[in-house]
Amino acid sequence: MSQLYEALDFVENPLYERIISEIATQKFSIIDDFFTDEEVTVLRASLLQKHEEDAFKKAAIGNKFEKVIVKIIRGDVILWIDEATANNAELLFFKKINNLIDYLNKTCFLGILYKEFHYALYPKGTFYKRHLDTFKNDDRRKLSFVCYLNNEDWQPENGGELVLYLNKDGQETEQVIYPFPGRVVIFESQILEHEVKPVQTKRLSITGWLKTR
Ligand code: OGA
Ligand code: MN
Repeated sequence: MSQLYEALDFVENPLYERIISEIATQKFSIIDDFFTDEEVTVLRASLLQKHEEDAFKKAAIGNKFEKVIVKIIRGDVILWIDEATANNAELLFFKKINNLIDYLNKTCFLGILYKEFHYALYPKGTFYKRHLDTFKNDDRRKLSFVCYLNNEDWQPENGGELVLYLNKDGQETEQVIYPFPGRVVIFESQILEHEVKPVQTKRLSITGWLKTR
């Protein structure tokens, strides 16, 4: 009976349906209006404030048993976001993320049980070499999620493109994605190798993972 009521409650969401079908067919989805301009503005302010307070740590490669900082692989600095102590901007962020997770779990049987997100700031001249997000012995990562918080006047010449390496009929192709503010990219963590090209000016984002058991 309760299942019937749940079914009756269900309202199809065209945006989420597009994300699901794009991930199913091409392993990634790009959404330019996932967050409103206001949400991007407050999230950017939150990132910059926390960076000023020096709460960011140099991103480390590997799990806690192999914490080595390898500048030649990645140069960003990150700060994990804790939902339990989230500020207003972060609460807006998690509200949308949790909505998406609920929808995925209702419609796709993905079984997303966990999530983890961090702010990332790439200083001028930094990059993140080609990699797979499951390399940290974390095969529970199912979907990678990136939201760019760059300034409104971000230009392609600033660099910092996300490049996804796709496999089309046995042929490798590159999908180049500019980190325009508010843009969200979601992709299959276990399948798509990707990299962040060198940035000419600081590049701001929130990156995270939706994880299974
Ligand atoms: C990562 C990553 C992509 C991006 O943090 O693992 O690949 O565009 N980020 O910031
Ligand atoms: Mn990655």
